[in-house]
Amino acid sequence: MILNQKSNYFLDWKEVFENENPIFLEIGMGNGEFIVHMAKENLNANFIGIDVSKEIFRKAVSRVKRSGLKNIRLMRIEGSEFLCKFVKSETLSGVYINFPDPWHKKSHKERRLVNEPFIYLVSDRLKNEGIFIFVSDNEEYTKSVWGLLKKFDNFSPLWDHGLRRDFPEYYKTKYARKWLALGLPIYYIGFKKTGNIEIPEYVKEYYPLLNLSKEDLYMPLVEFKIKKEKSSEFIKDILSILPKGLIYRDKNALIKVLDFYYNEESIIADIVCVEGSFRQRFFLDISLKKEVLKISIHDSDDPDPTFGIHKTLAIFASILKEKFTGLELLQNTTRIKEV
Ligand SMILES: C[S@@+](CC[C@H](N)C(=O)[O-])C[C@H]1O[C@@H](n2cnc3c(N)ncnc32)[C@H](O)[C@@H]1O
Repeated sequence: MILNQKSNYFLDWKEVFENENPIFLEIGMGNGEFIVHMAKENLNANFIGIDVSKEIFRKAVSRVKRSGLKNIRLMRIEGSEFLCKFVKSETLSGVYINFPDPWHKKSHKERRLVNEPFIYLVSDRLKNEGIFIFVSDNEEYTKSVWGLLKKFDNFSPLWDHGLRRDFPEYYKTKYARKWLALGLPIYYIGFKKTGNIEIPEYVKEYYPLLNLSKEDLYMPLVEFKIKKEKSSEFIKDILSILPKGLIYRDKNALIKVLDFYYNEESIIADIVCVEGSFRQRFFLDISLKKEVLKISIHDSDDPDPTFGIHKTLAIFASILKEKFTGLELLQNTTRIKEV
């Protein structure tokens, strides 16, 4: 019932659910109340519930277990990451988002889940005739989503006027019930996909996971053979020349070294890499064994091998190559060849 975040990309949903029933996704399912209701009412459909929060996810897991329903799968993961990694184009029959965090502060609005790139992503992952339902108590967020969806030629409103303020048949979670009890409004947006559109380049930059093909799903490494004998202090010598702070920036990505840890055989760099909306933090391992100096991702880590991961390795490799004579490149499996 619980799907592992580290599963293979593009899960085979037929295999996961052991049937070919239509698949509906709820992003930010909270404690699972809505998804359990929907799955109970629609036994001939499959439901995937995801949420980023560990604590809330646990609650949803218990609720789904208690329900005994076989047509639900859950994963603890961020919504756009899930869509990029595990869902192929034209897979879903519906996507529900109930009460997404509105991020009230102006400076935080860019953290909102639903924006233009996200609609392109959902549009791509939906089947034709697939539906997108957005429910919120926040008028301003709702209006911005409504405005965005109206601009998409391949989405048409589900109701006379795609935005409505009452929807008696729609299941009300505890969150919704509380809100209504206070006499406050809830806004519902419903659209149906009517055709395909291509994902633009800027959306692929915003969601770098969209650029990873099957062949790219390996963890890169760089190895040097040390030609001349190096002192027993070689690791310390390396450490003394490695840069901290920002080591790379372009219009879409930045890479920052936060800290270093070391022993006689290796240096571990704590790195943060932001590409578009995607942030990864990982440990880079620079280790010395016999005459081989290896730069790789530390065994304890498993970041997604985006451009930023390859670039980080390549940057460290070129710094070492430039500062130390007598390093012979043995292998460089990064996608950046100029080491
Ligand atoms: C206000 S709660 C609403 C919960 C539930 N949908 C309901 O109606 O009761 C928002 C939920 O979305 C989750 N969430 C926020 N951003 C998310 C994202 N980008 N991807 C997945 N879940 C997210 C939060 O952890 C939280 O559980």
